[in-house]
Amino acid sequence: MAAIIEPAAAAIAAKTEEQWDEFVSGRYREGKSEEEFRVYDAQANPGVAEFYRINHAHQTLDFVLAKEAEFLPLKKAEMGIWEAADFLNNLVDDSDPDTDLSQTEHLLQTSEAIRKDGHPRWMVAAGFVHDLAKVLCLWGEPQWAVVGDTFPVGCAFSSKVVFPEYFAANPDVTHPVFSTKYGIYAPNCGLDKVHMSWGHDCYGAKVMEPYLPEEAIYMLRYHSFYACHREGAYSYLMNDHDRAMFEWVKKFNPYDLYSKGRAKPNIAEIKPYYDELFTEFFPAKIAW
Ligand SMILES: [Fe+2]
Ligand SMILES: [Fe+2]
Repeated sequence: MAAIIEPAAAAIAAKTEEQWDEFVSGRYREGKSEEEFRVYDAQANPGVAEFYRINHAHQTLDFVLAKEAEFLPLKKAEMGIWEAADFLNNLVDDSDPDTDLSQTEHLLQTSEAIRKDGHPRWMVAAGFVHDLAKVLCLWGEPQWAVVGDTFPVGCAFSSKVVFPEYFAANPDVTHPVFSTKYGIYAPNCGLDKVHMSWGHDCYGAKVMEPYLPEEAIYMLRYHSFYACHREGAYSYLMNDHDRAMFEWVKKFNPYDLYSKGRAKPNIAEIKPYYDELFTEFFPAKIAW
């Protein structure tokens, strides 16, 4: 397995991650007007604003293609589901163990809420694995290339993406092709042709592709694509199949977003259910 980053760096990463999570769940509370979004963004804590400033400046088509070439062949590690979850728990911020949920607890809160609502078993499995690909952080990838809202690259950035003003520093905005509405894509070409800004969503979807149904893969791949699934941006790149599949992305979103207020899961109690669930869907080791 690849070497992981220092514990101190992991704690800082976890802190930024926590701030980002809180920002996102605050920003996307139901029923906000566009004006309220702007006010909320303007009042974001400096850490979150700084995070998006760097993210928007660096997520170019070239950057994404390089990361896809580096990670999508899945040659980083071989890990089972629990093993990946345990590994990801290195991201916990130890300075405040009472209020912070571990990564596994967030995953279990998400999957347990899905299970309680009677959704299919594959969706419960998707809930558990949806953030496992944040292990990217532990391989030394910077936060801005792991978490955060995602958006297409290789075409014009939508003003519906959070902090759109920060795209001014992205070199692609002056590119003769990438700066146009469709960029390198054809109208309604389908999102499978579209390169998304790099992060745990894309990577996680690729890792899980052989094991879960397509609806689940859509949930994983687009769960941070808020500009689209919350605000309808980029519909001109989607085809009818995407639109049908996005009903599942939208169904999944509240389980991810509002898991924080829920009770802490009792891992020992529910572990047998998850052992069985993972055996049903996944082999003992998965390529990462
Ligand atoms: Fe996520
Ligand atoms: Fe999540």
